[in-house]
Amino acid sequence: MGYSHVYAEAKADPDGFWMKAAEAIDWVTPPTKALFDDNAPLYEWFSDGTLNACWNAVDRHVEAGHGERIAIIHDSPITHSKHELTYAELRDRVASLAGALRAKGVEKGDRVIIYMPMVPEALEAMLACSRLGAIHSVVFGGFAANELAVRIDDCQPKCIIAASCGLEPGRVVHYKPLLDGAIEMATHKPDFCVIFQREQEVARLEEGRDYDWHGFQFGVEPAECVPVEGNHPHYILYTSGTTGQPKGVIRHTGGHMVALNWSMRNLYDMNPGEVFWAASDVGWVVGHSYICYAPLTFGCTTIVFEGKPVGTPDAGTFWRVIQDHGVKCLFTAPTALRAVKREDSQGALIGDYDISCLESLFLAGERADPDTIVWAQDKLGVPVVDHWWQTETGWCIAGNPLGIEKLPVKIGSPSVPMPGYDVQILDEGGHPVPDGDLGAIAVKLPLPPGTLPTLWNAEARFRKSYLDHFPGYYETGDAGYKDEDGYLYIMARTDDVINVAGHRLSTGGMEEVLASHPDVAECAVIGVADQLKGQMPMGFLCLNAGTQKSAEDVVSECVKLVREKIGPVAAFKLATVVQRLPKTRSGKILRGTMVNIADGKDYKMPATIDDPAILDEITEALKELGYPK
Ligand code: COA
Ligand code: AMP
Repeated sequence: MGYSHVYAEAKADPDGFWMKAAEAIDWVTPPTKALFDDNAPLYEWFSDGTLNACWNAVDRHVEAGHGERIAIIHDSPITHSKHELTYAELRDRVASLAGALRAKGVEKGDRVIIYMPMVPEALEAMLACSRLGAIHSVVFGGFAANELAVRIDDCQPKCIIAASCGLEPGRVVHYKPLLDGAIEMATHKPDFCVIFQREQEVARLEEGRDYDWHGFQFGVEPAECVPVEGNHPHYILYTSGTTGQPKGVIRHTGGHMVALNWSMRNLYDMNPGEVFWAASDVGWVVGHSYICYAPLTFGCTTIVFEGKPVGTPDAGTFWRVIQDHGVKCLFTAPTALRAVKREDSQGALIGDYDISCLESLFLAGERADPDTIVWAQDKLGVPVVDHWWQTETGWCIAGNPLGIEKLPVKIGSPSVPMPGYDVQILDEGGHPVPDGDLGAIAVKLPLPPGTLPTLWNAEARFRKSYLDHFPGYYETGDAGYKDEDGYLYIMARTDDVINVAGHRLSTGGMEEVLASHPDVAECAVIGVADQLKGQMPMGFLCLNAGTQKSAEDVVSECVKLVREKIGPVAAFKLATVVQRLPKTRSGKILRGTMVNIADGKDYKMPATIDDPAILDEITEALKELGYPK
């Protein structure tokens, strides 16, 4: 059965299609139907079934006789270590951790924040929460204490599980002081914390609040899996919106399991027992879906990689990992390949390893530029699949479903919609535009299983951000077009979100931080094109009259402030002081025009511009920063 047939089947009979997919996972009580639309335009899937995500990801494989299969391989070129965990070992470790959390009062529905680097214990913590029906919220290690505090106040965790430190090349990231600082800042206080002490840095524990990961498990009774409803929130994952307040994307348990499990065979062409490697971080959606839940639920071996594509120790690391662990499918961000290509443009290091096990490379997280795709195809000799998705959807919206049919590749396009996604290109009025015309990309409701049902504690914001603009559709926030064969092209964001090294960041959030500097009267942050990271944030600062400090001092203080408030992951290093910002007559900052000037693109003088001369000042300031490149 080819792609068109499968896609049409899901469209004609979504209930039948997804109920069939649901048979591939274990239910305590099977659902009576797939879609629950009584509360439209809010939709849910499999609400009346009961199941447990940890059972599906771990226990069921042991029960089926695969306890000796490797579940997780940890490979850390930073600590020069590798080790493996079987499914049986993983089950025992997770059951023990869950038992210890339960003994301290963690129950179904409680929130648990996880702040950990790329160690297997991060997955164990996620799975232990799933086992109890507790709702985890993983926070990426590159975020600063303030971002962690915002998340603590929003989801109000009973417990925080953290590691003592993370390891970046050449630097230890001191997680514990960041955690302590965040708890101090937050209004909500967790009942307790669990600290996984790494040998690279042992953190001081606070008596009565902090427990040692190993010590607090001593003598506890392992926990069994707690059945939860299909619409029970499995996790909350915060992602950047247009403001500094991140959005808490919720994932419901039933649809999550069904969609991820379906995607492993049909999209990634995997079989149970094979090795799948998503070179991302558990702090991002790719890590949730494709380092943890999808490969494990499907019975694959997953790799937890603590390293970088370059510099740990060189641009051959990816190929070494593929060879050493027999990786069949690699999933990474284009920026990682650009980093490799920059250091080893001929791909000479690929020849040092036997990567004949590799059958496909999937790219996501940002637009895959044609140069990178062609380079990878040429050097690796396997299909390179660009696929498009978002934190909100949890799995692919458009891709090339290798497990169903390898469709012709059109470079620059992530190919076609996955079953369940009715993707339309709309004009401002919400009407579909002709093929080839640019518009806002929207998905006709309902979205398929596995996608977000709403935002944590913020249904009004969910409706406003995603549903209100185009009634009957989910607004993706991306703009692009569709060609005559139904292939999609994702060109840009329609909001103030930028994509830096595959990481989604809010320029609005950075502006809020800059505006808090006492000498800054007004500011704007834009994303400028960057050869390696795709985009880089750039700040324009207007200073208060009478400021005593030099422009250089304010710029360097602002750079420091963003690192302190948002974190190193914001990669905010470029800023300049200007007299005025270009605006429309109604006072809206012309960020799009500034981006065009910085990227050296032609632009039309906006008809509504208040004072065109300001653009000359911006052009001058950019020139001083070396832009356009
Ligand atoms: N904990 C703490 N700090 C972190 C971190 C983490 N988990 N991850 C990144 N950082 C820090 C980095 O150390 C760096 O700090 P610095 O300013 O002191 O150098 C900063 O955040 C920016 O990191 P990054 O954007 O990763 O840049 P880099 O220069 O370290 O590396 C690449 C560049 C391209 C190699 C790297 O960005 C990369 O591997 N990208 C792949 C992205 C990816 O997989 N995205 C997932 C989406 S699928
Ligand atoms: P995130 O939620 O962090 O996964 O970021 C999602 C956003 O990244 C999308 O809305 C797109 O803007 C961008 N993105 C992800 N994958 C792709 C892709 N394959 N092509 C183009 N843009 C992408």
